[in-house]
Amino acid sequence: MKDLSSLIKREIGKPSPIREIMKMAEPSNIINMGLNPEDVISFGGGWVDHYSPEELRNAYMEIIKDEFKFHASGGYSPTLGFEETRENIAKYSKILFNEKIEKENIIVGGSSTQLTMDIFRTLLDPGDEIILPDPTYANYYGQISFVSNRIRIVAIPFLNEEWKYIENKDEILSRIQDEMLKKRTKAILIASPDNPTSQIIPNEFMVELLKISRDTGTYLIIDYAYKTQYFGEEYPQYFSFSPLDYENLITINSNSKWGRGLGRRMGWVEANLEIINALERVQQSTILCPDTLHQMAFNEFMKDPKDLRRYIDNVRNDYKKASEITVESIRKHLGFRFLIPQGGLYVAADVGEDSDKFVLRVLKNTGVIFVPGKGFGNTMKNGIRISYGPLVRKMDKIEEGISRVGKYLHG
Ligand SMILES: Cc1ncc(COP(=O)(O)O)c(C=O)c1O
Repeated sequence: MKDLSSLIKREIGKPSPIREIMKMAEPSNIINMGLNPEDVISFGGGWVDHYSPEELRNAYMEIIKDEFKFHASGGYSPTLGFEETRENIAKYSKILFNEKIEKENIIVGGSSTQLTMDIFRTLLDPGDEIILPDPTYANYYGQISFVSNRIRIVAIPFLNEEWKYIENKDEILSRIQDEMLKKRTKAILIASPDNPTSQIIPNEFMVELLKISRDTGTYLIIDYAYKTQYFGEEYPQYFSFSPLDYENLITINSNSKWGRGLGRRMGWVEANLEIINALERVQQSTILCPDTLHQMAFNEFMKDPKDLRRYIDNVRNDYKKASEITVESIRKHLGFRFLIPQGGLYVAADVGEDSDKFVLRVLKNTGVIFVPGKGFGNTMKNGIRISYGPLVRKMDKIEEGISRVGKYLHG
């Protein structure tokens, strides 16, 4: 056979570190380690496990039981997504975050993973630079590399040696500004709440960052995959900002985490008209159009969204509770330094040794799975990510898993 592309030959040897550990934890490997797969407790998954709103399930049923609606759900939608979906996304953003956004500034896509990749294709040429916080979502590195291996990634430490997050705001902002003043620096991409740290970027920091990036003509991309999972009484003010307020702001949003739609995915981007227009062109090549059934169900659900606010509040309270149990268990049984989650699904903890080796050793001896931190950036090389997201309906497993590791480590 003739050769595969040089691009895939380069990338295939660099699979995601998260996938690697999950592969290691497959039942056949667990049995080979002399463990019972049924005893495994996994803090590895980056997913949510609360129930979708009943009204959303009913919306799907409504479509499926109606011959004509079901037939319509098998048709293509416009590349930008249905106008009705884009209007409903604007309505959703208003209800949940008091955000003002117009349908013209919204493009619907398959997921935030696909849309992130399409944004990279839209903005980045070989030789360009993009700024990422360190640590950050591990997938960005591979995605950028798939666009070109000549894109320079500048990773700026947000987590310092003392395991404090954004401790010196001015120093970090000044480093970012220096980078942004370079002609080839196109964008900064930040997730808030973040993966793996579950920190929410402070309001003051983000507002200053928006100004610096606007003044230097650089795009500020915020990945809002976990936007509805914030734990404070109130969300930061910038959650309500849109590209109508800041022309250089691009937000990436997803259906995955708010309504447990990970396998029924729909994402969207909010941006200025030039970016939306460009993404429409890219999306014609990558997915042609977003999924019709999921858009129709979302639109049906949004006809009467009176319980949406309450649903989101209940869900975020559940994750807050799971995060508190995780934090207490780490304090009691492990004694590591860690960051207290302000949202999201994770606790990042410092194990004080090479995280790859630590995670493997713990898995072999206890059947408990953590994710090694290295893939998220250099600042996490001695860190692990402990995910409570998948255990939100099995909270007793949280202390059980962590105490098992504590017994192994401390006797
Ligand atoms: C920061 C971040 N962005 C994006 C995603 C993927 O989102 P989606 O399911 O919409 O592709 C994840 C998934 O874990 C994530 O952690």
